[in-house]
Amino acid sequence: MKKIRKAVLPVAGLGTRVLPATKVIPKEMLPVVDRPIIEYVVDEARQAGIEHIVFVTGRGKGAIEDHFDQAFELETNLRQKDKQQALAELQAHLPVAGSTSFVRQQAPLGLGHAIWCARDIIGDEPFAVLLPDVLIQAEQGCLAQMVEIYHDKGGNIIAVDEIPELDVDKYGVIDPVSQEGNVYKMRGMVEKPAIGTQPSCLKITGRYILQPEIFGLLENQQTGAGGEIQLTDAMDRLMQTQAFYAYQYQGTDFDCGNKLGYLRAFAHFALARPELAQAARVILQDALTQNQ
Ligand code: G1P
Repeated sequence: MKKIRKAVLPVAGLGTRVLPATKVIPKEMLPVVDRPIIEYVVDEARQAGIEHIVFVTGRGKGAIEDHFDQAFELETNLRQKDKQQALAELQAHLPVAGSTSFVRQQAPLGLGHAIWCARDIIGDEPFAVLLPDVLIQAEQGCLAQMVEIYHDKGGNIIAVDEIPELDVDKYGVIDPVSQEGNVYKMRGMVEKPAIGTQPSCLKITGRYILQPEIFGLLENQQTGAGGEIQLTDAMDRLMQTQAFYAYQYQGTDFDCGNKLGYLRAFAHFALARPELAQAARVILQDALTQNQ
């Protein structure tokens, strides 16, 4: 069984649901507490043993590339001012030289097309996909949990989670046939079904382990929901010929691509920081009392 060494992070999206905050700043660079969203996702990938990250970027996303580069002047400045802790923090998140690639998705043709743009860099090996809109708070990172399942079962794996029926038209949703512990077998999946037509209320959460045959399917794929080339449609076809599992991960996900999901993430991640938790709780309680 080939190891999962590489991960694709599609970061070309325009962030229209959080405008005007994302007019100039990539949505992946918005902070949650004191770190950009993308850094949490990269950490999750690294914890799962990922050695190389492929960012699929677009115009105006240069800040992401800069964020994962050495900031020579800033670091010199911190060193001169003896700000060792801030310096150590920056250096801890600097990727090893040569362990990141950046490829441009030249037009916003959909998530499936974004992943296809990484095909040459991924080559002929299984790989992970992490959608950076989605932050997952978990004791063991969600992708690391999935890698464990992969070592046991192989094939393709997606993370899923239960959602209210009223939200099914915002996500990809699976059609499960059987369940063994936290792992489902499926007969299909559908992207953004109309409410009332969904095969289940289990949404695709934005973490994937995929076999490279997905690229061949994406190559000539018709557009699907929203007029976009959908990853879900290609996975639905891959499932006809390869083992495919859905895994109910342990943890909580936050959709930072919309205002309330972002707010929720900010509150939860602040409360999870031991040095901030107590003060954050007071601030949140005050805000509630003053706005009743
Ligand atoms: C994408 C995927 C969808 C998945 C969702 C998770 O949708 O296409 O299957 O459920 O991410 O956040 P998007 O949020 O890009 O519309």
